[in-house]
Amino acid sequence: MGAYRATYDRSLQDPEGFWRDQASLVDWIRKPDKILDDSRAPFYRWYPDASLNTCFNALDRHVVRGHGDRVALVHDSAYDGKSRSITYARLLEDVAAFAGALQQLGVGKGDRVVIYLPMIPEAAIAMLACARIGAVHSVVFGGFAPAELAVRIDDAQPKVVVSASCGIEPTRVIEYKPILDKALERAHHKPDAVVLKQRPQAEATMVDGRDLDWEDVMRAGRANPAACVEVEATDPLYILYTSGTTGKPKGVVRDNGGHAVALAWSLPNIYGVGEGDVWWTASDVGWVVGHSYIVYAPLLTGATTILYEGKPVGTPDAGAFWRVIADHKVKALFTAPTAFRAIKKEDPEGRLRAAYDVSSLETLFLAGERTDPDTYHWASDSLGVPVIDHWWQTETGWPIAANLRGLEPMPIKPGSPSVPVPGWDVRVLDERGQEVPAGTEGAICVRLPLPPGALPTLWNDDERFVASYLSAFEGYYLSGDGGYMDEDGYLYVMGRTDDVINVAGHRLSTGSMEAVLAQHPAVAECAVIGVADQMRGQLPRGFVVLKAGVDRDPDELARELVQLVRDEIGAVAALKDVSVVGGLPKTRSGKILRKTMREIADGHDPAVPSTIEDAAVLDSLRPALRRG
Ligand code: COA
Ligand code: AMP
Repeated sequence: MGAYRATYDRSLQDPEGFWRDQASLVDWIRKPDKILDDSRAPFYRWYPDASLNTCFNALDRHVVRGHGDRVALVHDSAYDGKSRSITYARLLEDVAAFAGALQQLGVGKGDRVVIYLPMIPEAAIAMLACARIGAVHSVVFGGFAPAELAVRIDDAQPKVVVSASCGIEPTRVIEYKPILDKALERAHHKPDAVVLKQRPQAEATMVDGRDLDWEDVMRAGRANPAACVEVEATDPLYILYTSGTTGKPKGVVRDNGGHAVALAWSLPNIYGVGEGDVWWTASDVGWVVGHSYIVYAPLLTGATTILYEGKPVGTPDAGAFWRVIADHKVKALFTAPTAFRAIKKEDPEGRLRAAYDVSSLETLFLAGERTDPDTYHWASDSLGVPVIDHWWQTETGWPIAANLRGLEPMPIKPGSPSVPVPGWDVRVLDERGQEVPAGTEGAICVRLPLPPGALPTLWNDDERFVASYLSAFEGYYLSGDGGYMDEDGYLYVMGRTDDVINVAGHRLSTGSMEAVLAQHPAVAECAVIGVADQMRGQLPRGFVVLKAGVDRDPDELARELVQLVRDEIGAVAALKDVSVVGGLPKTRSGKILRKTMREIADGHDPAVPSTIEDAAVLDSLRPALRRG
């Protein structure tokens, strides 16, 4: 571990020196003199006296250096079979135009813009346009229903919302505009304007005086394109809401300077991808993976990024990924393990792959959930390239643990995302905050300060930031994941220790599903747990106790509850299984024993906690838990 060990050690022993050196990856307006401000610890700030523009770094500087003709972004839609390449020069033109249009709509530095778009280039254009004028974007994943969108609109208080008439799923066209209209009806905050991209698959009805057509707005913007606005390195670039343990999502804030440096460092060093390389992240712009590795990192690096609108299977078949790799000569692919499980299920022998030339592919990166050894072996045998599990979170913005393919490739251990990435001082702690010996499970934590790129706080909620992440163990960031480190310093991430679950690589909160179930007039109390699922990693299962005197057909009620969650959270919640039960096991202080329930549902036989109020309730629930 030569280069890795030296770099890692330096990043921890001399973080300021290390990140001062990496700052040269970015073009600054005012270069950083001070690297880390720790005067308000635990609120750390990187590059506190520097200024820059993230959009300039992602677009303009490549054009200035003569790379305007290089392809910045390829939109590949599996739905119309077309792909469209956009050069850096063209993308810059479009972004400057949309940024100008936003300015004409009154959006300025620090104002928020909510982006609710499917996987079309307009999503990246809108994000970068915000960055260009110092506005703060908040992208909301298209699979969320009106209520979830409304909560985010109320929290972010956007001046403008950018959306489209529809998104496309394999079996149906999803009209976004009615979802947005409902969300805006529910939200207390009202934006000044909605900019809407009409797509041929669905025509949206426009609201007079509020809604504007993307094309009209772009025409106006082209007449007055926006220049880059100088922002402080510590100014927010975006807010991305993610599931916490309660129903209310957490608004993860990302700054401009630290984010640009960290991402620019990560692509070549972790992923081995540099200028001019073709890089494909098969995720969605609505998730952090999409923010960091569909949009910002590849563009900051001057690579070509693929924006793929489609699925690994069903668009049209399990050869979709191989087709995209072959068509665009993709060097490295990043997706979630669940995508490979879906391909394996449809095409276990990998027959469809033979039809495509995938020889350009050098590495497959997987994250979003643990890569189980089966999926690892299948992917690595069928592709014949290194398969790299790596671990990170919305909060961290870039990988905490990985096998650094650019810096120094290391032996791969199936089931482990390898070693801590430079900048991340990873420690595994017991309940008392003491480090555990190698091989012993505990809470995976990171010693403060977190490196550049990690969240500086939660939007408008410093208190929740401290309470959620920094209060469990003083001086450490609590990741919410449990696991252990082996004798060689390889990390094993075994799963969340809180009520967050991971369904098909999508992070969801069981707490928010419980909040929806509890709204139903027949429900007295409820619990939602995540149980292991072969395809999706985890699936939510709901258990409800009826109010006294309620007499309902359990199947009919279950269908109603499933629909309620779909309507309130969105199809992406994937809650399909709700059981009506006689009672829920609790501790004497009234806490539902969700962990014990989950362990039983996963086929284990956990010890019954000594704090249980009534063991008979748990026993009567066992058959329902085991039927899964
Ligand atoms: N807009 C609207 N609806 C969406 C959506 C979007 N952007 N994305 C998903 N949905 C809907 C789906 O249509 C589906 O609806 P249904 O219950 O009516 O069928 C539901 O949400 C669940 O979606 P999903 O979990 O994606 O299941 P799926 O069966 O459609 O696809 C996989 C399964 C594995 C193919 C798919 O999840 C996948 O490609 N995952 C890759 C992982 C990924 O992108 N992770 C992001 C972080 S890296
Ligand atoms: P998200 O914030 O949506 O990126 O989800 C982050 C969570 O996904 C983490 O806290 C983990 O629980 C899980 N996760 C992401 N990548 C991995 C991985 N490589 N191994 C295990 N869990 C992972």
